[in-house]
Order: sequence, then C-alpha cells, then structure tokens
Amino acid sequence: MVTPTPDFVGYPETPAIVAATGTDRWVTVTWADGLSARFHHVWLRDNCACAECLLPLTKEQTFELDPAASPSLDGQPIVEATGALVVTWAGDRHRSAYHQGWLRAHRYDGAAVGARAPVTWDGSTPDMPPTFDGTAVLRDDDALREWLVALRDVGFTRLRDVPPRPGGVGEVAARIGPIRETNFGLLWDVRSEPEPVTNANTDLALPPHVDLCTREYQPGLQFLHCIRNTATGGRGRYVDGFRVAAILARDEPEHYAVLTTQPMARANRSRDSDYRWSVPPIVLDARGAVAEIRWGNWLRAPLAVEFDQVERVYAAAACMTAVAARDDLAVHVDWQAGDLLAFDNRRILHGRDTFDSAGGQRFLRGCYGEREELHSRLRILDRRIASGR
Ligand code: OGA
Ligand code: ZN
Ligand code: ZN
Repeated sequence: MVTPTPDFVGYPETPAIVAATGTDRWVTVTWADGLSARFHHVWLRDNCACAECLLPLTKEQTFELDPAASPSLDGQPIVEATGALVVTWAGDRHRSAYHQGWLRAHRYDGAAVGARAPVTWDGSTPDMPPTFDGTAVLRDDDALREWLVALRDVGFTRLRDVPPRPGGVGEVAARIGPIRETNFGLLWDVRSEPEPVTNANTDLALPPHVDLCTREYQPGLQFLHCIRNTATGGRGRYVDGFRVAAILARDEPEHYAVLTTQPMARANRSRDSDYRWSVPPIVLDARGAVAEIRWGNWLRAPLAVEFDQVERVYAAAACMTAVAARDDLAVHVDWQAGDLLAFDNRRILHGRDTFDSAGGQRFLRGCYGEREELHSRLRILDRRIASGR
C-alpha cells in the first residue's frame, strides 16, 4: 500500500528510510544515502496523513494539534518494508505512517529550514530580461512552466509575439490564474489621454515604481503588453528592488533602518475613488528578509510619522530615490508590438522615459495578478511532471 501524504504531490520512493531511533522528544530518521534529520514528536503527530486525521478528498485536518503527543512506551519508531516511518502513539495507540519522500522534502532539522534567498540582478546581468515565446506559453504547459520559473526567480521576464489584440494580456495572465481587478478595471490601457486619471496616462516619464503601493495589498504580479508603438521615446526602465534594498542595507544602514520601519504615506485619488495606505517602503518578513518593495514617488501623500522622524524619513526616501535611479542597476527595454513584460510587482521597480505622442502612438494594455497564483500554478505543473503525466 502506498503511504498517504498530506498533499497531492507524488514523492520519490527512494532513498528509503533505513533507520529510526527515538528519544523522549524526537525521532532521528536516516535515509539510505546517509542523510539524517530529527523530527519532534509533536510535529510528527501533527502531520499524520491517515484517513482519520485528514479527509482524503480535501487533505484538510479533522483533528486538533496535541503538544503532549508521545509514542507509546512499548513502541519504538519502526521502519516499514516500503521504506516509510511508522510511529504508534501513547493513549489511543493511533498509528501514523510517514512517506519517506514526503518526510525528506519536509525536514526542518538544520540547514534545510528557511526560504531560498532570491538571486538579484542589475544592468550588467547578461540576457535580461529572460525572454520566451508568447505563442508557446499560451498553448503549451512545458513552455508555461519554463517562463514561470524565471518569473518566480528573476522576477522580470519578457514574452515575444503575444498577439497584439486587446485581450492578449488577459489571456496570458489567465494561464497563471485569476486576474486581480482594481478600480482601473480588469485590463487597463496605458496611453496618453486628454483627461488622464493617472500620470501613467500622459507622455510623462515615470520614475522607478511599483504599481498600487497605495493599496493595503499590493498586486504581486504585473503584465504589460505592447499593442502598438510608433512613438519616439518611452523606453522602459526596470530595476531589481531587492538589489536596491541590499545596496541600502550594506551602504546606508541608518537610512535602511528608517526605510524598513517608518511608514510612508501614499495616495491614489480620483473623482470617484480615494485609496491611501502607509507602510515602510522596504517591508521585511518575520526572518528579517526583504519581502516586498513599496515605492511610487508620484503618489506621495502627507507623511504622518512622529515629529522627530520627519526629516529622517525624507532623507532616507531621497537616498532610496537616488539608488533606484542608478543607471548601472537598470535594464532598458525598447517596446515592440507583441512584447509582453511580466514582473513581480512587489519586487521589481519599473519606469519609462518620456515619449512624444504627437509623432506616433504608444499603446500598452496591462493587468495584475498575484504571486500566490504563480506559486500555485507552478506546483500544479510540477505535480503533473512528478506523476509522469
Ligand atoms: C504604468 C506604467 C509603464 C510604461 O502604467 O504604471 O508604469 O512603460 N507604465 O508606460
Ligand atoms: Zn492519523
Ligand atoms: Zn507602473
């Protein structure tokens, strides 16, 4: 019988578990290739994947966690012939089996724990942005996967030859998952307009920014698709915001401390909407790693920090502005009809040069998505590969 796992992923049967020894708080597991890792009793009990603990159809729990869980006194952890670990618990003598591949993939003892640090890039990084064939991405899941891995890891990608029709950008985004609708619509236009509601819809240059830093939850992905470009100027400018943060952390620690702790106010005002949010421009996660960049200099709103902080916040913001504008950090992009740029809108700063809409037309269509949809789609594509389909 196949040992159940608490998810829908196919895990390798080898290397098998070859030894398991217990202490009063954890089990030490060793696999056939010599790797070993400890697992606490409380953790093991909490991850039982049997049909009593998890509904097989939903893979969701039907039991509450038990911090006092310990194996039955007479029961040492056992390695089954299949290579799985089996533990029998004290009290109700519940029996839990752990698939060797699943347990290995989820070990947390020592170096295995923690998220991968992203590899950042700058203007000297070769072959930027990673470029893929848009028509292949639209119809082929292997091409989709290749593109999404780059979008996840580099945060900035280009598709070529996405049909320059009005719905093209939405078709591409829907390959990942739901599109994030905003007050700008499901899909929106970027072109110079006589009555713009945002500076983006003028001929003006846009300094490096992320979109919708004015929102409580800033979209994780952005897609921009060029329908037409016969105007002069309007070259795109893309900067890795995580690199900007790393430079500030290394070279400007005092400004970095302000940028990671003091909220900056941003606003997106129009005749019928009024969005405002205040958050530090460099947002750290629980481990202190940079989680997202919140930066949009033409959406500044009145700062509301303590009196003693005001000048420090402005000085730190000016420093971040200067680093974000550094030419050596920027990758430049000349827009051609059919090009689609997809990027992590919580990491990558994007901008453009001014352009001349009197001499030609520059027309982009865009939409937003979420990082979590990208991660989910990639896991599903990997599941398909793991199970050989
Ligand atoms: C925007 C934007 C980039 C461009 O619409 O927010 O950044 O190249 N546009 O026009
Ligand atoms: Zn169980
Ligand atoms: Zn933008």
